[in-house]
Formats: sequence, structure tokens, C-alpha cells
Amino acid sequence: MKRVIVASILSVTLAMAIELPKVPDAPTQYPEGELGRLVKLGEDIIMNTNTHPMTKNLVGNRLQCKSCHLDGGKTKSLGTFMGTATVFPAYSAREKTVQSLQDRINNCFMRSMNGKRPIIDTEVSMAMAAYVSWLSTGLPMKGNAKKPVNPYYSKLWPNKDLIPLIKSATNKNYLNGKKIYEERCASCHGMDGNGVDVFPPLWGEGAYNTGAGMSKLDKMATWVMFNMPLGDATLSAQDAVDVTIYVDAQPHTDFYLKDHLYPAEQMGYYNSKVLEEKHTVRSNFKAFGLDVDAIRGDKKIK
Ligand code: HEC
Ligand code: HEC
Repeated sequence: MKRVIVASILSVTLAMAIELPKVPDAPTQYPEGELGRLVKLGEDIIMNTNTHPMTKNLVGNRLQCKSCHLDGGKTKSLGTFMGTATVFPAYSAREKTVQSLQDRINNCFMRSMNGKRPIIDTEVSMAMAAYVSWLSTGLPMKGNAKKPVNPYYSKLWPNKDLIPLIKSATNKNYLNGKKIYEERCASCHGMDGNGVDVFPPLWGEGAYNTGAGMSKLDKMATWVMFNMPLGDATLSAQDAVDVTIYVDAQPHTDFYLKDHLYPAEQMGYYNSKVLEEKHTVRSNFKAFGLDVDAIRGDKKIK
């Protein structure tokens, strides 16, 4: 019931520009035997990533995969894992290689989870890939020569219409974002962005780092338009951009790729041609031609 309401509100807000994709229902029947066990293990890890005994040491913040891939990716909204497995193998410009589903999943541990990349083909890595693959049961394989992104949302991801709004942002947008945050986000995520109870943190040490998709202004604004406030995703494009500017201008841990990889002798094969990568709040704003100090009104926060 709630989902129907959310979907209809979404279609009203987005219908002008965007036709919503028809994402199929998640399968309900688990595979038999050892494969079924692995799929269920993968689901458990995706729902409880930061506390699960097999992954808690790989996670450096207070998030679970389902914090952004709602309902563990069974959601039909942006962030769904329905269909995701069908695009792999997929080329990734970030790593400059063709990536497997395991590669793509494991890389999230370094960025969204601010932790260590699991070793390929270990039980943890296989279990998550088995679960995400199971969610694509019966869907046609496509592969993607351009980007490793869910097939239903590849056109909408990220929403290019938001880019001019981001590039023209000033301190006024930051202040409007702060107001929206206080009115529409803080009740769940906390005035200090540190999360409240089951509601996850948006900045500070408990949150995603500056290498994560969510730290890129166009990606977070797109995701927020589809998904937040939870159950009431009704922000206008401008308000989604402004609240994103406010949240992503708050402190987030700097990203240095090397800090998130095990030493070469333990890491197993790391399928990437890019071994140096660094991002900060400042560089993420600069990527859109913005000076984060001016955006914040010259209030320096490291
Ligand atoms: C802080 C939010 C966040 C968290 C937590 C997170 N992700 Fe993601 N994930 C994203 C975003 C945003 C994208 C789109 C990424 C992009 O294009 O950079 C994405 C993309 C992906 C994709 C690529 C395919 C697709 O559907 O677009 C996979 C697979 C994935 N995530 C798996 C995971 C797994 C597994 C975890 C937990 C270990 C996880 N993610 C945790 C935000 C998150
Ligand atoms: C009714 C409570 C509620 C409100 C209000 C709300 N959120 Fe969320 N938000 C959640 C929950 C719950 C999750 C995680 C979903 C899960 O774990 O199942 C989440 C996840 C997120 C995430 C991804 C996870 C993370 O911590 O990085 C972002 C980003 C986010 N919300 C931004 C916002 C913004 C921006 C607003 C205001 C426009 C907002 N939320 C309003 C409940 C809420």
C-alpha cells in the first residue's frame, strides 16, 4: 500500500521529464541446496553489512548495503538490484577494465562502506554476488560496454538535467539546502548528520567517504529525488540539488584508494588499471566547478 503511494507520488514529480522504468518483482523462491544457502547468506550480509560477523571488519562506517539499495535491492526505485547482474561483465571507466559483478560489489566496500575490499572468490564475495545474481533470475543478459549500472536506470543515472542546477550553485543554495535538511531530513538523520537509531548517518565518520557514488553531487541528488525523504520522495529538482550541496559540503572522510586495498600479497587479483585515486570534499565540488568554501559562505571545515 505504502509502496503504491510512493510510486504514484514519484510518478507525479518525475513524470514531466522522466518515464519510470518497469522493474519486475523480486523472486520469492530461493534456490535449493548450497546455492540457496549462499544466496540467503548474501542477503543477510547486504541487510546487516556493518554488524554481520563475516563483514563487520571490512566495514569502516555505520552503513549497510541496504542503506542505499533499499529493501536489500528488492526495491523498484533507483538503487534496485533487480536486473543488475544482467549488465555484467561491464566496462568501468573508473577502473579502466571490464568488471565482474564480484568486482563491482567488492569495490563498494572501499567507498560507500569506507572499509576494505573483500578478496575475490571468498565466501563473502561469492555470497553477495549469488544473492544479486538471484535477483536477476529469468532476466536477459545484456552486458554493458559503457558503464556498470543497473539496466532499468542506466538512462536516468545520473540525471543530466540536474547538472546545470549544480554548476550554478552558490551559498544561497547551501542555505536553502540547510533549511530543507532541518525540515525534511533531520528528524531521521539527526541535526548533526550522525544518524539516529536505525536511521543512518549522512556525514562524519559513520558515513560514506569522498570516493563513494553518494559523494558525487549529481549522483546523490538523483538518488535523493527518487528515494528521500523515505516514503515521501517529493523534493523538486532544485531542492534535491540544494540539500545534496548542503549534505556533501559537510565533513566526509577523504578517499585514498591504497588505504582500502589489502597488501598485494593478500589481496588476490585486483581487476583495475588505476591504482592511484584520491578524492576530498573539495575535489568533489571542484569536479562541478564549485569552490566548497564559497558554497559554505567561507566557513572552513576540513
Ligand atoms: C551510501 C550509499 C551506498 C551504499 C551503502 C552502498 N551502495 Fe552500492 N551503489 C550506490 C550508488 C549511488 C550506486 C551507483 C554508483 C555509481 O554509478 O557510482 C551504487 C551502485 C552499486 C552497484 C552497481 C550496479 C547498479 O545497480 O548500479 C552494485 C552492484 C552495488 N552498488 C552494490 C553494493 C553493495 C553490495 C553494497 C554493500 C557492500 C553497496 N552497494 C553499498 C550507493 C551505495
Ligand atoms: C522518515 C525517516 C527519513 C527521512 C525523513 C529521511 N530519510 Fe534518508 N534514510 C532513511 C532510512 C531509514 C534510510 C536507510 C534505509 C534502510 O536502511 O532501509 C535512509 C537513507 C538515506 C541515505 C543513504 C544512506 C546514507 O546514510 O548515506 C541518504 C543519502 C539519505 N537517506 C538522505 C536523506 C535526505 C537528504 C533526506 C531529506 C530530504 C532524508 N534522507 C530524509 C530515513 C529517512
